[in-house]
Amino acid sequence: MNVVVVGSGIAGLTAALHAHEAGHTVTVVTKGRLGGGCTPLAQGGVAGSYGPGDGPAAHAADTVTAGAGLSDPTAVDVLVTDGSARIAELLARGVPFDRTSDGGFARGREAAHTHARILHAGGDATGAAISAALGAAVRRTPIIVREQTMLLDIAVRGGRARGLTVLVAGTAIDLSADAVILATGGAGQLYAHTTNPAEATGDGVAAALRAGAAIADLEFVQFHPTVLTGDPVFLLSEAIRGEGAVLRDRSGRRFVFDSHPDGELAPRDVVARAIARQAAAQGTPVHLDATALGADRLARRFPTIDRVTRDRGYDWSREPLPVMPAAHYLMGGVVTDHDGRTTVPGLYAVGEVARTGVHGANRLASNSLLEGAVFGARAAAALDEPWPDAVGAASTPPRDGQENGGSPATPPPFSRHALQRLVWDEVGLRRSGRGLQRALGIVRAWAAGMPPALDVRAHEDRNLLLLADATIRAASARPVSVGAHHRDDPSSSASHAAPVPILETA
Ligand code: SIN
Repeated sequence: MNVVVVGSGIAGLTAALHAHEAGHTVTVVTKGRLGGGCTPLAQGGVAGSYGPGDGPAAHAADTVTAGAGLSDPTAVDVLVTDGSARIAELLARGVPFDRTSDGGFARGREAAHTHARILHAGGDATGAAISAALGAAVRRTPIIVREQTMLLDIAVRGGRARGLTVLVAGTAIDLSADAVILATGGAGQLYAHTTNPAEATGDGVAAALRAGAAIADLEFVQFHPTVLTGDPVFLLSEAIRGEGAVLRDRSGRRFVFDSHPDGELAPRDVVARAIARQAAAQGTPVHLDATALGADRLARRFPTIDRVTRDRGYDWSREPLPVMPAAHYLMGGVVTDHDGRTTVPGLYAVGEVARTGVHGANRLASNSLLEGAVFGARAAAALDEPWPDAVGAASTPPRDGQENGGSPATPPPFSRHALQRLVWDEVGLRRSGRGLQRALGIVRAWAAGMPPALDVRAHEDRNLLLLADATIRAASARPVSVGAHHRDDPSSSASHAAPVPILETA
């Protein structure tokens, strides 16, 4: 079978390697370079439930709790059950997970995990180690890698994905395929502040929407609580708080306990909102205080963060760091079954672009690399299986299309920056019906006025506008607060767990 994988993070490269090992002819298409994207930026690690008293059941329970009850329990079981085989595979492919002196895995702690179970490599360079190992493994195979090649659209003929159109050096070309596996990551570039790289413009979700695939849960956008302020912001791993760093307000008080008894290790959405609220109240950023950990431990455990913070002029062993939340991870995306199949036959989605149901309303830290590996491998294994009659459609009813957006008298001129600010302000950590409607009106006015896209940046803008529209509609359709989706104007009659319509092309 001729398989095209779009994206070269952990999910895409795992799918590509497994598909190749199963005898398929594989091409990897990637917008940047092999080894780019979000995976190499991942710091904290991979959740693996190997510690004393820990196990897949505890990991599953933590995942479901973090997901605020909206996770699909079967998808979660698949994640924690297949997880150990995928971690063993990463080891076999050469990922040097950090060890303790007795040879066991060094295990970090992150928020909402009941056990210390975060495996890491190079201290805080887990994603980079995984990216390097998988990229090298791909280079040792005849898998064709097409870099600097942007997905434009999925070719659907006769109700089946038959290939894709890509943009290479300004020219659109068609690639045929018997199966297309989307692994394009998320859409952090919708937001003014994000931990995601520049490539994260939601190209896969947008192309899937245009191809008629079901999309769900776009309202669930995770904000990482702690990034170093600046332009660009820089991720400060939750593992730092797991090692004992604390969050302080202007007077030095540990304010997160006002919001949750677990303080700094409360679920991410709680900590992120507490930080934003406190920063707004005091008019200055709050601070992450890691000084108690000492210079040696900080440098050994977090070498990347140590280097970057010092490059930016901070000595974090002596002074607390100014922090803020930033858009980090998209829990929703292209609806899949437990083998990566979407609602379009021949089209699969794995990793952050997919909505497998694992994350529900809020992803448990360090589940994303694991999800990418698990579902990447499963999608490849499913390539030879017959396509089932229905995929995912049972989980959510069709949308009813009630939102149109107000028409702004004069929308501000479009720019990527203006879009990111608008989405940050109205579709960010806190939302309201009125703000969402305002944003939808502006986004639609911008989309209507866009000239034909000719280059990568213009195609990205087109995708971001489509994603913004779909995200606003999803957020509007859930008039209650749950997990990462927080409404300032919750409806008293709606259930927090009510299914939200699948989105189709607007
Ligand atoms: C972190 O290191 O805090 C990020 C881990 C994650 O988002 O899973």
